[in-house]
Amino acid sequence: MTVLETKSLPKHVAIIMDGNGRWARKKGRPRVFGHKSGASRVREVVEAAGNAGIRYLTLYAFSEENWRRPKDEISALFTLLTNYLRQEATKLHENNVKLSAIGNRHKLPAECQRLLLDAEELTRDNDGMTLILALSYSSRSDITAAFQRLAQMVAAGTIGPEQVTEATIEGLLSTADIPEPDLLIRTSGEKRVSNFLLWELAYTELYFTETLWPDFDSG
Ligand code: FPP
Repeated sequence: MTVLETKSLPKHVAIIMDGNGRWARKKGRPRVFGHKSGASRVREVVEAAGNAGIRYLTLYAFSEENWRRPKDEISALFTLLTNYLRQEATKLHENNVKLSAIGNRHKLPAECQRLLLDAEELTRDNDGMTLILALSYSSRSDITAAFQRLAQMVAAGTIGPEQVTEATIEGLLSTADIPEPDLLIRTSGEKRVSNFLLWELAYTELYFTETLWPDFDSG
């Protein structure tokens, strides 16, 4: 993957996987066909990133906004995700990958939540790459939750307003234990960050490619 072959290897790469629908439309196939192909690309990219020595890989797999999509499409996306967790958890573990998730996970289908917890539990002590799936994720929602906790701490007198620092806020985000991304990749030509890691991307290099996610490979 050209972008990963740079001399100074990024420690944390975040990816907005976009363009599954357009990829399918170009082939005259239903959107779900694009998502299915996108899921195969996830498998390959996770493996390639691990082999390249990337320490953290965060994938925007389902945004809060994605709940507005047609029910059938949402259900197909979660079927792909549950299949991924079912089929890949053992392989991730064997490859020393630690899996974790950010986002409003209580909104996910119960089976998906269960498989996620199992995979996190199975891989929790691994010290190779950390794969973070952003699921039902919204950065504004994450920042809002952090501010609610902060307001509670101030109200309880645990911390004074003047003691609130950037580090305090960072420590309350769902990404508290993860270094900020060095590189953000968005496929499919859209040049937006779409409510993804807004705080964390402050110093991140942005890389936008016209390639649609199902075509994003090492070529
Ligand atoms: C954007 O394409 C992609 C998504 C909304 C979901 C990403 C999901 C996958 C790659 C598959 C499942 C994930 C895992 C982790 C197994 P789009 O539908 O917005 O494309 P469009 O903009 O061309 O319509």
